[in-house]
Amino acid sequence: MIIVPKTRGFICLTSHPEGCAQNVKNQINYVKSKGSIDGPKKVLVIGASTGFGLASRITSAFGSNAATIGIFFEKPAAPGKPASPGWYNSAAFEQQAHQVGLYAKSINGDAFSNEIKQQTIDLIKADLGQIDLVIYSLASPRRTDPVTGVTYNSTLKPIGQPFTNKTVDFHTGVVSEISIQPANEEDIENTIKVMGGEDWEMWIDALKAENLLAPGATTVAYSYIGPLLTEPVYRKGTIGRAKDHLEATAFTIADKLKDLGGKAYVSVNKALVTQASSAIPVIPLYISLLYKIMKEEGIHEGCIEQIQRLFQQRLYTPTEIPTDEKGRIRVDDWEMREDVQAKVAELWKQATTESLPAIGDLKGYSTDFFNLFGFEVPGVDYEKEVDEMVEIPGLQ
Ligand code: NAI
Ligand code: NA
Repeated sequence: MIIVPKTRGFICLTSHPEGCAQNVKNQINYVKSKGSIDGPKKVLVIGASTGFGLASRITSAFGSNAATIGIFFEKPAAPGKPASPGWYNSAAFEQQAHQVGLYAKSINGDAFSNEIKQQTIDLIKADLGQIDLVIYSLASPRRTDPVTGVTYNSTLKPIGQPFTNKTVDFHTGVVSEISIQPANEEDIENTIKVMGGEDWEMWIDALKAENLLAPGATTVAYSYIGPLLTEPVYRKGTIGRAKDHLEATAFTIADKLKDLGGKAYVSVNKALVTQASSAIPVIPLYISLLYKIMKEEGIHEGCIEQIQRLFQQRLYTPTEIPTDEKGRIRVDDWEMREDVQAKVAELWKQATTESLPAIGDLKGYSTDFFNLFGFEVPGVDYEKEVDEMVEIPGLQ
């Protein structure tokens, strides 16, 4: 079929297999261009099909020749209906990995469930024995607690008072003001249930109980802080409470891994266009201004640049892993640079529908968004018929 983008609000309903495959190849080439990393050898990535998780899988495999198992929740194609982008990404990744003789298998299903954890345990036992790196990179709007069966929905709301600020619809470029009503106690608890550290800890408990973590094993989950501008809706909002919980869980897990000489970290990453972040109000405007400045400064990074730097310059160096005063790894250092943030704050005041095309990188935002779905990728012929029915070679 010929596949074109079909958007509805913050999502794109279609995705392009060849565009996704090209994105994956570009990420692989980037990692290879940065040289080899004396990194992990057997890696489990939970949330492996898009965004930071996919970049972690690619960096593990093509940066340090690691065997990888990827867990994700993606939709396969049906005739005439393309798969979700994470499906095509994973298919392309596994093809490339297998081509160079790297082990790569995947499990598609709900990572929050006991069943998927059990399937993963069985696969590790059968194939890899023990894992030395577990990346936890889930972003989900809901989670069903496997013990109680109750489903929780996360929210993106401020806490204590309403929040009013500018936002942009990046499809139309219209800058408008939005007000978000504050969360109630239940919203806060539900968001912590979904995006906090409980499930990360359950994964580590399950793997450890089966003796599937190698001596010295490391686990890393991803967090975000961001500037004062977005604080009410992000770091001091419901999602921020969940990130506080996730960060606290790193210490709980670190204690549990002590007897193995293992480690648990949160890495604070930079704001990027992903399916998860496009849905957060105010963030797209912030990102479009941030991109403009970081590109001008020559310090712009995407997921792959961030994660490659995380592995090569933070996690796998001969010296101790550098962390901030709260024990967190920081690869948001360039985003948070004082001069960068001062410029964003200044541009923020000026941002209107009329001024944004000049002062912000709206085009970069939009291109990155369509790239997520395999569209607007250089070198791909979108006029050409493609086979939407792609299989993931290592899917269990
Ligand atoms: P993403 O939406 O690109 O990736 C989410 C992944 O989770 C996908 O592989 C998806 O298949 C998987 N997933 C979702 N629900 C699942 C389920 N129930 N079972 C199995 N797999 C499931 O998200 P992104 O942006 O890469 O986020 C990953 C982490 O990085 C999140 O914790 C996010 O908060 C954090 N982060 C994101 C930033 C951003 O600007 N995008 C900045 C800093 C941190
Ligand atoms: Na991810």
